[in-house]
Amino acid sequence: MYKDIVKQKFNEIRKNYKKQDILVLGIESSCDETSIAVVRNGRERLSNVIATQIDIHARFGGVVPEVASRNHLLALDTVLEEALTKANVTLEDIDAIAVTYGAGLVGALMVGVSYAKALSYATNKPLIAVNHIKGHISANYLTYPELKPPFVSLIVSGGHTALVKVNDYTKNTLLGSTIDDAVGECYDKVAKTLGLGYPGGIVVDKKAHEGENNIKFVSHEILPNTFDFSFSGIKTSIINYVHKLKQAGKEIPVNDICASMQAQVVGELVNKSIGACNKCKSKTLVVGGGVSANSALREELSRAGEQNGIKVYFPEIKLTGDNGAMIASEGYFMAINGEGLAGLDLTPAPNINLKWERRKEKL
Ligand code: KG4
Ligand code: ZN
Repeated sequence: MYKDIVKQKFNEIRKNYKKQDILVLGIESSCDETSIAVVRNGRERLSNVIATQIDIHARFGGVVPEVASRNHLLALDTVLEEALTKANVTLEDIDAIAVTYGAGLVGALMVGVSYAKALSYATNKPLIAVNHIKGHISANYLTYPELKPPFVSLIVSGGHTALVKVNDYTKNTLLGSTIDDAVGECYDKVAKTLGLGYPGGIVVDKKAHEGENNIKFVSHEILPNTFDFSFSGIKTSIINYVHKLKQAGKEIPVNDICASMQAQVVGELVNKSIGACNKCKSKTLVVGGGVSANSALREELSRAGEQNGIKVYFPEIKLTGDNGAMIASEGYFMAINGEGLAGLDLTPAPNINLKWERRKEKL
């Protein structure tokens, strides 16, 4: 019986992980990247194949959910085959299948979750339900083999912005999060207003280096005395600024807008992150998510960390965006702690965050 076999195999992972290698297959399809990876012992990438749909969505100026779902479906078989071939393993060698079940686009998640359930059923391998946001933290376990909790983590992606106290591999406390837009979303929307295309974060980052921080978009302190963030004020202020210049037929100082926005947004992220570390008496800060590729964030946070005696970790650039390896890594740490085993009734949780954990699935 499937249920009994996978339960037994799942328990064996916890019993045996110190004596034998554990291979986890990680499947990611929450947004516009179809990715599958094979990871050994939560730390070592044997493969990490990423099929990006950026070119498909760029012409629409952003991700079109239905188009994303259909392209995940088209890509998955090929991506799996490549991930197994590159890792030089077969499905038989895999110990568990980890899949992103939230947060993300419901249709896109549905494709990955259904694919993972079918694979799990066909191979009798345990299925592990992974929270994508936590996966972004685990990208650092792949980059730094010596990195261990506890630490404070700053998660900055297209869908989330949060400060978290990571107490253990599977236990965390939410310190604060955005009350409106995520920081990546703010970058993307500003980029769109400036006609810089999708995804905009990397372009705004580049243009920021060619401009000057000489426009003040928000003059008040944002959500003082909390670890919460708000980015919709600066976004709206920039959009209004650009529209006014356009109406007056004036030139748009694109590079200065990018430089000013970047300085203000990064300033917020740095202040709150260092504040959270000090509050938690943590000497380690771990950053994750697409925006952790940002050059100013890397520079400013590393400098502030040095000044405050805090070591700051960023994932290697190719692990900042969405990828299957971070899901496999997170799935490994869940499995060796006896957590996350999902049944065939697993459904996508598009709005999951770090506060709202998955209900206990019954096998
Ligand atoms: O983590 P991610 O790949 O997807 C989500 O889980 O949302 O993050 C994507 C976000 C996009 O908003 C993108 O514009 C942003 O990360 N991003 C950047 C940079 N590179 C990617 N934002 C600022 N500077 C960058 N260099
Ligand atoms: Zn992500």
